[in-house]
Amino acid sequence: MTKKVVVIGGGPGGYVAAIRAAQLGAETHLVEQENLGGTCLNVGCIPTKALLHTAQLYHAVRSGEHIGLKCESVTIDWPALMNRKQSVVRRLVGGVGGLLKANGVTVHKGTGELAGAGRVNVHGAKEEVLAADAVLVSTGSIPVKLNFPGADLPGVIDSTGALSLPKLPASMVIIGGGVIGIEFAALYAAMGSKVTIVELLPEILPGIDSELAVTLKQSLGKEGVVFMNGAKLDSVSQAAGGLAVKVLVGAEAKEIVADIVLVAVGRRAFIDDAGLEASGVTLERGRVSVDANYQTNVSGVYAIGDCNGITMLAHAASHQGIVAVEHALGHGAAGHGQPIVPACVYTHPEIATVGITEDKAKEQGIAYKKGVFPLAGNGKAMIDEGESGFIKILAGAKYGEIIGVHMIGPRVTEMIGEATLAMRLEATVDELVTTIHAHPTVSESIGEAALAVTDEAIHWPPGMKK
Ligand code: NAI
Repeated sequence: MTKKVVVIGGGPGGYVAAIRAAQLGAETHLVEQENLGGTCLNVGCIPTKALLHTAQLYHAVRSGEHIGLKCESVTIDWPALMNRKQSVVRRLVGGVGGLLKANGVTVHKGTGELAGAGRVNVHGAKEEVLAADAVLVSTGSIPVKLNFPGADLPGVIDSTGALSLPKLPASMVIIGGGVIGIEFAALYAAMGSKVTIVELLPEILPGIDSELAVTLKQSLGKEGVVFMNGAKLDSVSQAAGGLAVKVLVGAEAKEIVADIVLVAVGRRAFIDDAGLEASGVTLERGRVSVDANYQTNVSGVYAIGDCNGITMLAHAASHQGIVAVEHALGHGAAGHGQPIVPACVYTHPEIATVGITEDKAKEQGIAYKKGVFPLAGNGKAMIDEGESGFIKILAGAKYGEIIGVHMIGPRVTEMIGEATLAMRLEATVDELVTTIHAHPTVSESIGEAALAVTDEAIHWPPGMKK
C-alpha cells in the first residue's frame, strides 16, 4: 500500500525530504506557511552570498591598483543590487516549487500543526486535516532576540533586516561575533561601511579552530573592521549622529555611534505553532529531541534541521531529511553512516572546516598528528592574493586517519568537499599524499598539508615555522 508522508516546513530540510519521499513512492504532502526554500533561500545563505558577490567585486576593483586594475570611478547601485539579490532568490524559490511539482509532491499553503501521531492540521486560507504514516517536522529556526534598552529602536535589526536595508549604511555595530555577525561584517566592510563587532567571548567564531579565527580576525582588521572582544552590549539609544551603542568591556563603559545595530547572537528552534508539546513530543532546551534516525519519542514523527538544534546548517538539514524519510519508508538509512558535516564561513578570506578542531582534540585528549601548509607556498593562492591563509590537517596518531581539516584562504569553501569525502571514506594521510592534485590550483595545498604531517611538504622548507 502506498505510504503517506507529510512534511511540515519547506526549507532545505523539508523540501529535500519531500522530494526523497516522493522518489521512494510515497504520497507526499508539504505544508509551508511562507515561501518555499525556508531561511536559506529567502533570508539566509542565498541572498547573503548574492550580496557578497557584488561586494567582493566592488572591493577588488576599488583596491586593485597593485594587480594592474585602475578604475576611475566605481559605485554600488543599491536598488539594482537589491533587485538582483531578490531575482536570484525568486528564481531559486521558483525552482524548488518546480522540483516539488515534477516529483508529484502536493504543497499546502498554511501553518502545519501536529495533532498527534499521523495527523497534521493545516491552518491556511482553508482548514485541512492530513493523515500520514510519517510526519517530518522541519520548521527551522529564528533569530534569538536580546532584551536590552533600545532593542525596538528603528535601525536595530536582525539578519533578515540586514538583507534589505534601504541604503548602504555608513556605519554598523554588530552584536555577536559568530558566523552570522562575521559574514555580515565582511560583507558590509567590503562595501565601505565602518563596522564594529561586539563579542562577549575573548575570540570570534566559537567552535571554529581558533588559529583560523585569529587569522580571519587579522585579515578583517586590515580591512577596517574593529573588534571589541570580552564586550557586552548594555543599551542602545537615539543620538544626534545615529544610534549610540553603550558597551561594557569589563568594568569600562564605551560608546560607539552607528547608523545600524545588527543583533546576531544565535538562532533558536522555531516550533512555536507546530503542536509538538500538545502531541507529547519531547523537547529539550527548546529543541526537539530525536534519535539517530531523527525520530522523536512519538513513533512516526521525525524532526530534522534547525528545529532539533543538532547542526544548524542547511546541508545538515537536507541530509537529516533524507535519513529520516528513508528510515520512515524502510529504505536502509543505515547506509548513510555517521554524519560528517563540513562548515563554511563566507568571508574574505574564506574559512572551510570539517571534523574535529585542534582545540577540541586537545580538550578530549585525542592523540593526533598535524600538518600545516601555508598558502604562501602555493602559486595559485599567491595569484589570488591569499598568501595569509593556510591548511591544517589533523590525523590520528596511530593509523594516520584524517580526523579534521581546517582551511582559510581563497576558494576553500569549494575545496572542503575533498576533505569531507576523505573523511567519509576513512582515508589516511598517505592516501591524500598519493592523490594527484591538478596544477595550478589552491587545492594542491591539501596534498601539501598531508605531506606536512611528516614535515615533507615540497613547497615549504623543512623545519621552517609556518
Ligand atoms: P552563533 O551562536 O554562531 O554566534 C553568536 C555569537 O554571539 C557568539 O559568539 C556569542 O558569544 C555572541 N553573543 C551572545 N550574546 C551576546 C551579547 N549579549 N553580546 C555580545 N555577544 C554575544 O550565532 P549566529 O552567528 O547568530 O548564527 C546562528 C546559526 O546560524 C549558527 O548555528 C550558524 O552556524 C548558522 N549559520 C551558518 C552560516 C554558515 O555556515 N555560513 C551562515 C549563517 C548562519
